[in-house]
Amino acid sequence: MTQLGIGIVGTGMMGRIHADAARRVGARVVAVAGSSRTSAERAVREWAGGSAALEVEDLITHPDIDVVHLCVPNHLHEPLAARALEAGKHVVCEKPLALDLAGARALAGSARTSGLTAAVPFIYRYHPLVAEARARVQAGSAGNIHLIHGSYLQDWLSNPEDTNWRVDAGKGGASRAFADIGSHWCDLVEWVSGHRIQEVSALTKTAYADRPGAAGAVSTEDIASVAFRTDRGAVGSVVISQVSPGRKNRLWFEISTANVSVGFDQEQPETLWVGGREGNRVLTRDPNILSPEAAELSTLPAGHPQGYHDAFRAFVADVYASVSGGAAVDRMPTFEDGLRTAAITEAVLASAERGTWVRVGDFSPALLTVSAAGASQPES
Ligand SMILES: NC(=O)c1ccc[n+]([C@@H]2O[C@H](COP(=O)([O-])OP(=O)(O)OC[C@H]3O[C@@H](n4cnc5c(N)ncnc54)[C@H](O)[C@@H]3O)[C@@H](O)[C@H]2O)c1
Repeated sequence: MTQLGIGIVGTGMMGRIHADAARRVGARVVAVAGSSRTSAERAVREWAGGSAALEVEDLITHPDIDVVHLCVPNHLHEPLAARALEAGKHVVCEKPLALDLAGARALAGSARTSGLTAAVPFIYRYHPLVAEARARVQAGSAGNIHLIHGSYLQDWLSNPEDTNWRVDAGKGGASRAFADIGSHWCDLVEWVSGHRIQEVSALTKTAYADRPGAAGAVSTEDIASVAFRTDRGAVGSVVISQVSPGRKNRLWFEISTANVSVGFDQEQPETLWVGGREGNRVLTRDPNILSPEAAELSTLPAGHPQGYHDAFRAFVADVYASVSGGAAVDRMPTFEDGLRTAAITEAVLASAERGTWVRVGDFSPALLTVSAAGASQPES
C-alpha cells in the first residue's frame, strides 16, 4: 500500500491526536495549518516534526496530501470540509459535522456526490468492549431491546468563569453540550443497539448566562435531559452535562434486552458489565474470550490496557483502508452519521423550545426533516 499523505488543520488538542493516530497507522503528516502561521510552526516544533507549516488553502490543495483532517472549531467544519471535497481530498471532519442540520445535510450531500471518503471521529465505537456490547445485544439469543439509557457528564465548564470558543454560538453552534458530547452518546448507542432514536422530549438548562469572552448572554445549554423512543420499540433517556463537578469525560450507557443487560463506562474502557437473571459479570478485555469483532479491535493482550488513543488509531486505520481500497468499512462513522446526529440535535433543541415531543427526521438523506410529533406509537 502506498503511504498516504495527510494534512492536519487545527493545532489544538485534537490536531495533535489526529496526527499521532495518522503516524501510528503509517501515514505521513505532510503539513499542518492553524489559526496563524505561528501556531502552525509551533505545532511543527512540538509534535509535527518533519511537516510543513502552511496556510489552510495551501494545505488543502497540496498535491502530496490525500486526506485532510479538520480539527478546528465547529463553525469552520462546513466551509473547510466543502472546500477539501471540492479539491478532491478525502476528509476526516470533527464532530459536530456542522453548526446545524442544514449545514450537515449539505456536507453529507457533497460527500455522497464526490465518492470520496468522508468520516467523522465518533471513535468510541472502536473500544473493543463496545464491540463486545454490540455483539451481545444484537445476538439472536438476546431478545428484543427494551431500554437504552445513560449519560455523558463533564465538569470543565462547571465554574461560571470557565469559558471556551464552544460557549459562543457563532463558533460552537446553537446547541453546545448536546451537539458537543450528546452527539457521541447518540451515535454510540445507535451503533451498539441497531435502533434509531425516533422521537425526543427534551429539557435544557443554561447554568451560567454570563461567561468571560461570551458575546452577550450565553444562549447555549450546559445540560440536556432527553427522553426518547426508538424506531424499534425501545424507550430510553440520556442526561448530558458539562457542569457536573467531578465527572471528567464520563460517557456511560446501559442497554437491556429481554435476556441480557450490558453497561459500558468510557472512563473504564477495559471492562464491560454484563447483567443476567442468573448473575452478573464484569467482563475484562481478553481477546481470547471476546467476540471476533471485539477481538479484532484488541491490539494488545489482556492486562495491557487500551484506551482513547487506541480507539482513535483504529478509527483512522478504517478511514485509510477506505481511502486506499475505495470501500467504506461498515463500522466507520461517515458524514451520514454526522448528519444523523445533527438531526437528533435539532430535534432536541426544538423539543426543549416547544415543550413537546419532536420526531427526528426520517433518516433517508433526501427526506431528512424535523417535525412536531403526534401521539404516535413506534412500531415494535
Ligand atoms: N472526536 C472527539 O473525541 C473529539 C474530542 C474533542 C474535540 N473534538 C472536536 O474537535 C474540534 C477541535 O476541538 P479541540 O478541542 O481540538 O479545540 P482546540 O481549541 O484545542 O483547537 C482548535 C484549533 O483550531 C485552530 N483554529 C482556530 N481558527 C482557525 C482557523 N481560522 N484556521 C485554522 N485553524 C484554526 C486553533 O488554532 C486551534 O489550534 C471541535 O470541533 C471539537 O468538537 C472531538
